[in-house]
Amino acid sequence: MKLWAGRFHKEPDQKTNDFNSSISFDSRMVREDIEGSIAHASMLGACGVIDAEESEKIRAELKAILGEIEAGTLAIDPESEDIHTFVEGELTRRLGPAGKRLHTARSRNDQVAVDIKLYLKKQCRSLHAQIKELILVLCRKALESKDAVMPGYTHMQRAQPITFGHHLLAYAEMFLRDLSRLEDTEKRMDVCPLGSGALAGTTYPLNREMTASLLGFGGVTNNSLDGVSDRDFCMELAADIAIAMVHLSRFSEEIILWCSWEFKFIELDDAFSTGSSIMPQKKNPDIAELVRGKSGRAIGDLTTLLTMMKGLPLAYNKDMQEDKEAIFDAVDTLRMCLTAFIPMVDTMKVLRQNMRKAAAKGFINATDCADYLVGKGIPFRDAYKITGEIVAYCIENNLTLETLPIEKYKEFDALFDSGIFEAISLENCVNGRKVTGGPAPQNVEAQANRIIKELGAA
Ligand code: ARG
Repeated sequence: MKLWAGRFHKEPDQKTNDFNSSISFDSRMVREDIEGSIAHASMLGACGVIDAEESEKIRAELKAILGEIEAGTLAIDPESEDIHTFVEGELTRRLGPAGKRLHTARSRNDQVAVDIKLYLKKQCRSLHAQIKELILVLCRKALESKDAVMPGYTHMQRAQPITFGHHLLAYAEMFLRDLSRLEDTEKRMDVCPLGSGALAGTTYPLNREMTASLLGFGGVTNNSLDGVSDRDFCMELAADIAIAMVHLSRFSEEIILWCSWEFKFIELDDAFSTGSSIMPQKKNPDIAELVRGKSGRAIGDLTTLLTMMKGLPLAYNKDMQEDKEAIFDAVDTLRMCLTAFIPMVDTMKVLRQNMRKAAAKGFINATDCADYLVGKGIPFRDAYKITGEIVAYCIENNLTLETLPIEKYKEFDALFDSGIFEAISLENCVNGRKVTGGPAPQNVEAQANRIIKELGAA
């Protein structure tokens, strides 16, 4: 039975009915739908819009329905148009006329908006908890590898020495921003649209603040048109998720590179790697590749939402039913990716000797050689040029800055003395980079501990 039967003389076309239906994807909001209805019924009773006893009966039966659905003894009918129709239909089947009073002063337009907000607020919190867990894993691993010297790269060329701990904390910073984006999104989502009705509010004397507070919202929406047609919160959350997925994707890309024989900076645990059906030697970083690949879905979901909304006049339009699959997919994707990614990072083995070996090649201490000359009073631009000539000489003669004899250094500039070797030792190079935000082990330690403390895990 359609909620909107009455004006119509024909049943809907069967195939079109399926096309119109959202039950296959909105039934995941059954709990939120029922909670929203319970709060609405309480408020209707308290305001005298419906009889207090009937309100009580409605709430008890809604609780029973939710209990049975969660226990698996009541199945959601896939033929219902949407989850709102199913719940109201089931209630009316059980209570008769009292059930039919629940929808007084409400429309599915404000109902669906409240359901999605309630559902997504929970998702914000659980994604927040997962990202926090990832950050703490990164901090722990950063502390373990705070003095593991590795080459830092620009243009994928070895550039300057850093520490692996510092590299990991760069990702921790990105994920910290993801946390604050989620908090921000949740704050703006925290206003209850119930009472907006279909679009123009209602003439009943509702207490909207009461419904909002029963549902745990911080306040109510200020404009009924906006209350039912706002999907900023979906777009914002999808943007947060797309950005977090891009961070995971960049990290995955590095993990994939680091696992290769060309780098061998890390080794993933067997439990988070896969083999080949033909090549017996293979150990593939499939999890990281999948995370990198799935970032495309999250970007697609955001694009879907933005495109779906951009031409919609006020207020509700059925196009907006398309919000759910996109935002649910985004939420599911990030959750699944984090679930696999966190233990993969937690268990990866850091091969610091290989990082150290890679750092020894590629003249990544050339800047430090120039800085040494600056310390002797030579202007940086001249020091840069002299060092460039030294590097060119070393490359031609198969030498490194460490193996070039001091006599040769002196030929490039008389100010060189044996102190140069100390100045270009990679350990000294990273230890000296203790400017705020730098890669020195003492910085890594302080940063990791600060983050751990900030996240309340100290
Ligand atoms: N299934 C619909 C949605 O997800 C619920 C709102 C329907 N409202 C309406 N006027 N048709 O958007």
